[in-house]
Amino acid sequence: MEAATHDPVLILGGGLMGLALAHQLARQGTPVLVLSRRRSEAAGFVAAGMLAPHAEGLRGPLLALGQASLARIPAWVAQIEADSGLACGLRPCGIVVPFHSAAERDAYATAAWGQPLDRAALKAEIPGIGPAWQAGLLFPQDGQIDNRRGLMRALERACVGLGVTFQEGCEVLALEQDADGALAAVRLRTAEGEARRLTSRRAVLCCGAWSARLLPQLPIVPVKGQMLSLQGPRQALRRVLFGPGTYLVPREDGLLVVGATSEADAGFDDGLTPAGQRQLQAGLAALLPEASQWPPMERWWGFRPCTPDEGPLLGEGPLPGLWLGCGHHRNGVLLAAITADLLGAGLSGRLDAASQARLDQFGWQRF
Ligand code: GLY
Repeated sequence: MEAATHDPVLILGGGLMGLALAHQLARQGTPVLVLSRRRSEAAGFVAAGMLAPHAEGLRGPLLALGQASLARIPAWVAQIEADSGLACGLRPCGIVVPFHSAAERDAYATAAWGQPLDRAALKAEIPGIGPAWQAGLLFPQDGQIDNRRGLMRALERACVGLGVTFQEGCEVLALEQDADGALAAVRLRTAEGEARRLTSRRAVLCCGAWSARLLPQLPIVPVKGQMLSLQGPRQALRRVLFGPGTYLVPREDGLLVVGATSEADAGFDDGLTPAGQRQLQAGLAALLPEASQWPPMERWWGFRPCTPDEGPLLGEGPLPGLWLGCGHHRNGVLLAAITADLLGAGLSGRLDAASQARLDQFGWQRF
């Protein structure tokens, strides 16, 4: 049955995907209600904000999706900044991937998209880089955005300004289906502990690593990442440095974000661990020895939503009326723009053939 157009679309999850899609739908004039449990846990708040389809060495359809999103990001960010009046901290600063040898460099999955660097050129790009690194790839098209201090706040402000409504602190407990199996209602517990039922024929699951709690048939598991930050001098590092197991993301004001562990066995275990933090510190010392002396600022952790092929789940879900925007694993910040575009078009029935084909590549039925 066609949804009544005045019914709000329910966005389940108030993280980056939920906010990006809410913003997109609100701009299209669609009423939106965002239901969120604890926004501070969302991967959008804990990620490093790299825009790195090439540096991450993505392949196949996921690389193409990442490249398409990267191309959309300047206009997407400009719209969010215009709607919110806040800066998002987009920095098209390029990313350098260092290697121990030229052979290792040339075998990298995305080598064809990068500029090869020898040791001298690598040192010119990254003054102070550790002695172990003999070669590199520069991806000038990759970059970063200050997701924690800029993008998330700006998106939230933009959504509020466009009339998106939010219900915070509530936990979605179950989805109800009608006699035909389509989405009929969402049952939740409010922040005050009251049970509520919202009738709804259109909802989007954007619950990140927690998505399979609501729909156990979705193959999404948490992959924990621990991080830290340091205060460096402004301009000490001009480009993101993306080493194996550790990366360094320099913000405009010299804050250096250091990520990240990748702990598939940790489940939803909260907290920092000595081993995880030591791994980051060792990675930092190997990549940029002088940065080990910079003052520590913060340490934190989060959970990436990972699928078996590490690509997202996009498009219509297992029950009619429920859409999916989850499972973005290491690439959520990068893929937020294209996710909002594709799902915004899908929910309003305006998908062209190319966008439908793209959604089909990332449908949940592929597993
Ligand atoms: N994209 C970087 C990470 O997930 O750690």
